[in-house]
Amino acid sequence: MKIAVVTGASSGLGREFVLQLGRGEKQLDAIWVIARRRERLEALRPLCPIPLRVLPLDLTDPSAVDTLEAELKTAAPEVEILVNAAGFGRMGNWQAVARRDSAAMIRLNCQAAVEVTQICLPYMGPGSRILEICSTAAFQPLPYLNVYASTKAFLYRYSLALGWELRSRRITVTAVCPYWIRDTEFIPTAKQSNGQVVRHFPLASTVRRVTARALCDSRRGKAVSTPGPVSTVHRAAGKCLPASALMAFWEDLRRI
Ligand SMILES: NC(=O)c1ccc[n+]([C@@H]2O[C@H](COP(=O)([O-])OP(=O)(O)OC[C@H]3O[C@@H](n4cnc5c(N)ncnc54)[C@H](OP(=O)(O)O)[C@@H]3O)[C@@H](O)[C@H]2O)c1
Repeated sequence: MKIAVVTGASSGLGREFVLQLGRGEKQLDAIWVIARRRERLEALRPLCPIPLRVLPLDLTDPSAVDTLEAELKTAAPEVEILVNAAGFGRMGNWQAVARRDSAAMIRLNCQAAVEVTQICLPYMGPGSRILEICSTAAFQPLPYLNVYASTKAFLYRYSLALGWELRSRRITVTAVCPYWIRDTEFIPTAKQSNGQVVRHFPLASTVRRVTARALCDSRRGKAVSTPGPVSTVHRAAGKCLPASALMAFWEDLRRI
């Protein structure tokens, strides 16, 4: 049985990956969809021509990863595609972002992504693909999105190094690094701690565009996907400019 595994499938990017994978990107027998909100996952069924296996799991709970591992062991599928899209951020200075939220960001954006990847890898063979949903925030330290940006820098580095290790197995790993996306729940969730840290989100993209670009880059075996002009320029700037200059620019940008 050939499957795709998509975390964060109940909304935003993860949901759009399920819909676009359902349109026949690969010959799949099922897509395993993971998030906390079961009803949102169930609601995807009529929209996707490929059968869905609904796994309502809170990935910050270590037992959730054990559950997924046990399900994989029982079904013994071939995991053709893994998309790690579950993630969240909180905006605000170090005082505004609660300690619990910081810890949960690290657990979900870093630990869960690594663990889900590790338990899927034994079921992946040549030609399989992993998409780790990072962010353009991975390219520089971001004051007022401090912990979030750090989690994405972690996932970005992890993805690049893992991709290198997996070359001999012909498994590709793509670090997907989008700029703001306007039609997901990410921004309202991130604002819950302190709404006015970032005032506007100019040039924000859409889930449809970002997902299509990321899948295309993954098919082409790219290690990094910057799905849009802002993240492409940001990636280059992150390589050329000192962190202090990038943070000063961000200070102006976030006040626009
Ligand atoms: N939107 C942007 O501007 C933007 C830009 C760059 C990168 N990203 C990244 O893109 C990824 C997807 O975000 P999005 O924009 O699509 O936001 P979103 O609409 O808020 O989607 C986040 C997904 O993660 C799931 N999730 C959250 N906490 C979870 C938990 N504890 N266990 C399991 N699943 C959990 C949510 O489902 P439940 O609530 O049902 O659990 C939801 O399906 C994230 O990693 C984010 O960092 C977003």
